[in-house]
Amino acid sequence: MRGSLLVDNIGELVTNDIGGEGGPLGIRRHAAVLVEDGQVAWVGPARDAPAADRRIDAEGGAVLPGFVDSHAHLVFAGDRAAEFAARMAGEPYTGGGIRTTVGATRAASDDELRATVRRLRGEAMRQGTTTIEIKSGYGLTVADEARSLRIAAEFTEDTTFLGAHVVPAEYADRPDDYVGMVCGPMLAAAAPYARWIDVFCERGAFDVDHARAILACGQAVGLGVRVHANQLGPGPGVQLGVELGAASVDHCTHLTDADVDALASTGTTWVSGFELTTVATLLPGAEFSTRSPYPDARRLLDAGATVALATDCNPGSSYTSSMPFCIALAVREMRMTPAEAVWAATAGGAAALRRTDVGRLARGARADLVILDAPSHLHLAYRPGVPLIRQVLHNGVPQCRP
Ligand code: NIG
Ligand code: FE
Repeated sequence: MRGSLLVDNIGELVTNDIGGEGGPLGIRRHAAVLVEDGQVAWVGPARDAPAADRRIDAEGGAVLPGFVDSHAHLVFAGDRAAEFAARMAGEPYTGGGIRTTVGATRAASDDELRATVRRLRGEAMRQGTTTIEIKSGYGLTVADEARSLRIAAEFTEDTTFLGAHVVPAEYADRPDDYVGMVCGPMLAAAAPYARWIDVFCERGAFDVDHARAILACGQAVGLGVRVHANQLGPGPGVQLGVELGAASVDHCTHLTDADVDALASTGTTWVSGFELTTVATLLPGAEFSTRSPYPDARRLLDAGATVALATDCNPGSSYTSSMPFCIALAVREMRMTPAEAVWAATAGGAAALRRTDVGRLARGARADLVILDAPSHLHLAYRPGVPLIRQVLHNGVPQCRP
């Protein structure tokens, strides 16, 4: 949208600008934000606001950076509501249902997959998500992984090749051959559409040697590394991610002291810079939907690790696209303060994607922001389940009101 836009009458502005006053969220009061050409052009006291072509009155609502959902699996077909019902009746989650979704995804047309991504992307946007990472991982053939990523790339810059989600049924008795295929023709077909590579490093999925080999192949063609690690039990995934300089290790539900130390040793983003930090991305929607113990965010934060929150939106373990829901869970169940959870869902997600243009509201950042129907960020956890996102600006463009 052309011309300048001033957002004012803001109850509380969360900038995540730690250089100034306002605590870890860089909170400013009586502030206004000027948007020009899709970027934040100015942040300052409302009384000093420059003239603008248009104005949005925040009506005393809090304004935050748009949420950065750094972990989502949106390219799939079908759903697994019956599997969810069975779990709520006492069945455990094993990840075995992934193959059910693989079958449905392979059978779907491009347009069906695209429609699902569009629907979920829209759903997330209406809940304040302005940046989203989207993984492949339900195709698991050369053609189906490549088309999953091609479709994902229509919706986001942060696309992730997850050919190593599980070993598909047709390779069940020859996993080495599957890994060879992932590193060879599948990676070659997927890489043009991918920014990242990911592996589900877990008992029943890929062991540490296979995971290391696959991630190294991805790195060799220029993809950044992320890992599904330590979700269902303790394991080597977190240490592998740190060893390879992963941007993020995700889930982190079962951590040893050595895992926590390894993550803390990579430092915090504002000290080490994005290129050195391996972020611990926590996905409380998965623990909610699999009725599992939550990861201990407090332990990670107290040790000095950088923590992000993301939805893990997928039809099996976490069918939510709602970052506010994840913030509320993190505060209630994972011993995070509301400020820590909001930071993790914005700046933390940006760190997990090694992006400096999102997750903060300062001059030069992308003009991605949410206006709450509430005076403070606290309400995101204080009023769980309530649709508090009144307006979303993405690239400076107001989105439809929910
Ligand atoms: O992140 N853990 C592996 N992958 C997904 C689950 C996918 C599924 O159950 O379909 C996750 O939880
Ligand atoms: Fe996941």
